[in-house]
Parts: sequence; structure tokens; C-alpha cells
Amino acid sequence: MTETGAHTLVIHDAAELVVGPATESDATLEVREDAALVAADGAVVAVGESEAITRKYPPENADVAIDASGQAVVPGFVDPHTHAVFAGDRSDEFEARLRGKRYQEILEEGGGILRTVRATRDASADRLLERLLAHLETMLTHGTTTAEVKSGYGLETETELELLEVIDRADAAQPVDCVATFMGAHAVPEEREADDYVDAVVDDQLPAVADQGIAAFCDVFCEEGVFDVAQSRRVLEAGRRVGLEPKVHAEEFTRLGGAELAAELGATSADHLLYATDEDVDALAAAGTVPVFLPGTAFALDEAYADARAFLEAGAPVALATDFNPNCHVRSMGFVQTLACLEMGLAPAEALLGATHDAALAIGREDGTGTLREGAPADALVLEAPSSVHVAYRFDTSAVETVLKGGEVVRRRG
Ligand code: NIG
Ligand code: FE
Repeated sequence: MTETGAHTLVIHDAAELVVGPATESDATLEVREDAALVAADGAVVAVGESEAITRKYPPENADVAIDASGQAVVPGFVDPHTHAVFAGDRSDEFEARLRGKRYQEILEEGGGILRTVRATRDASADRLLERLLAHLETMLTHGTTTAEVKSGYGLETETELELLEVIDRADAAQPVDCVATFMGAHAVPEEREADDYVDAVVDDQLPAVADQGIAAFCDVFCEEGVFDVAQSRRVLEAGRRVGLEPKVHAEEFTRLGGAELAAELGATSADHLLYATDEDVDALAAAGTVPVFLPGTAFALDEAYADARAFLEAGAPVALATDFNPNCHVRSMGFVQTLACLEMGLAPAEALLGATHDAALAIGREDGTGTLREGAPADALVLEAPSSVHVAYRFDTSAVETVLKGGEVVRRRG
């Protein structure tokens, strides 16, 4: 096995190993029992029955061998929607909401996103990086190996570029693979009118973001009182002209038409969807736009949960994400899967698919990320439990014991 000189790793005797969807058109999870996995130079090279695999790839010859007896192995989680780069603290808004204040009222009064914008503009890039790295560390120990991170707390060119730069530096500094999304259209800054600010996003921010070359996606908060459908369309079309694929915060508090817009543009994802209609479900499914569900947000805001089941019935993928932001302080994709099961009626296997393979689709990853198929990146989690059901079942602490990124052990508990 060392003949190629590759760095090799063998996980053997796993009670259960979740490979991923059986085929691209069949959402049923392929699960192997008494299984082994071999990784070389960052990718999965073999997966299957432990005895056969270890005969061909003896663990004693591998650089790293993990005996996973009595443990389950699952693909590393992909978190396809976070606002993880910000400064400041909004725990007092949590208290205000408990006293009955609404999220949108707080925003209208200059709190919420706008308050985080002030704190973020005031923070140094090094401080923002330090905070983002701390969040990524928590995400990694809870099993997230790939995460999308949005800008959007700058709302002017200089700070938006700085946030994207911080995401890029964080990506290079630690194991979680970070995918950057430009979200200059996250809110209308206090000093501007919406139309006038959209001009600034389109004419000033987007060209600079394209020149910088870090962001892969362009997202917009299409919502009553924020950006309407026409304004959102302008932002997303301009983003696409400079090579950024569209994503939409759609139907979060009202049904405004963001999902229809996402479908019309063939956006990579449409996220939130609490107020999506049957027509929206059909349009998104037909367009191949991945619906992303953020049950942590509904939990934090005490809102009704989105109807993910309608999308499953339409044959669409169903991705899950944390939406981690100062209003929704959850970094654990395990807890998101718990909520998806208990509050949205997903089966644990459906939630796991949503946190892995389908989440990867929501950030345009079709290289096997979110699966443990041969050829996929060897991003895997060894659980301290015998079955993958424990990911959602346990919600006090994470069921994740060992985290592998690109075939290397990057975190190990105990
Ligand atoms: O996805 N909806 C807009 N953005 C975030 C909230 C960001 C914030 O409150 O700071 C969301 O819920
Ligand atoms: Fe969001």
C-alpha cells in the first residue's frame, strides 16, 4: 500500500459506514455494515466490507489506522449557509425577543443586522479573523468539514472586501474548507435608500468583489422591507455577469417571490422557504435549485418550520444548514439534524443526507463531497456510537469523536 508513497489511512471494523446516496437519482442512503474505508492522498480509494478491504490494504501498513469497532462512520458535514464572520454581541436582542419584540421590529429600529454591521465595521480584520477561526474550530469539532461563509455585515465596498479576505485567510489557516459568498445585499444600510444602495452593490461592490476573486456566490435578502424581487434580480443578474452564481434568502418572513426568482435564474440554492407555496416547490424542483432549510432560525425566532417534506415529495434534494449568525447562534450541524427530525418530520437518514450530500449540492460541489464514495474527498466522522441515528438522537453534546479532513485526523475527542 505504501508503494505509491501516498499518505494512507485505513478505518476498519466500523459497525456501520454511511457511503452516501446509492446513486445520484436515488436518495436512499447506502449504508455498509462491518465496513472499512481507505484513503490515500486526501481521497477515498476503497470502501466496503472490512475483511476484504483489510486483506488488500492491511491496517499495519497504513500511515494511520483507526479501529472503529462498535462505531459508525459518516461523511463530514457540509454547512451550506452561515454568516460566520461578524463582530459584536446580540444576546440582549434574544432577551428582547423573549419579551415579545419581533426580529423585523428590531431591524427597523436599527438593531439586528444593522447593529452587527456597526460592530463589524469597527472591528479590525485580525479581530474578525480571530473570531471566525474560533467559530470554525467549534464547527469542526461538531463535524463540519466544509462550510459556506457569507459576507454581508459590511454593506460598503471596503468592509465587504475585508470580510471576504478574512474568509479566505480563515480557509487557509485551518481544516474546514470555506466557500465564500458575497452578500452585500444583506440589508439596506442606515445611510441609504434601497434602490440607491442596490446601485452601489451593482456598480461599486460587485466589480471589486469580482476583481478580488474570492467569492463564488452572490446572495440577496429578498424580503419585505429589505430588497424586493426587482432589486434582488438586479443584484443577482449583475453577480452572474461577473461570474458569481446566485443564491437567495427567500420566503423567510413573508412570501415575496424570492423562490420564483431563484427558479427563474436557475440559482444554485434558495434558502429558508418558510413561506414557500406549492408553486414554489414545483418551480424550484424543476429548475434544479437546491432548497436549503435552516431549522435553527425557526427555533431561534419561534416561527413555524418550513415544509421540507413537500420538496422531498417533489423529488428535490433537501439541504440543511445552520444559518449561524448573531441572531441564530448555532454552529452544530448535529443539532440542526435533531431539529430537522423533531420539528420538520425528517427521518434521521434524510437529515443526514441533507447535512452531507445535498448540502454539498447547495454550494455547487459535485465532486463527491458529502459522500464517502470512491474518489470523494476523504472527509469523514467517526462517531462515539454504533449508528448514524445518534447524530440526531443526541442533542446534549456531539456524537462526533474523530474528524477526518482530506484523509487526515484533524480532531479527536478523548
Ligand atoms: O439568514 N435573513 C437574513 N440574514 C440572516 C440573519 C442575520 C442577522 O440577523 O444578523 C438570516 O436569518
Ligand atoms: Fe441567512
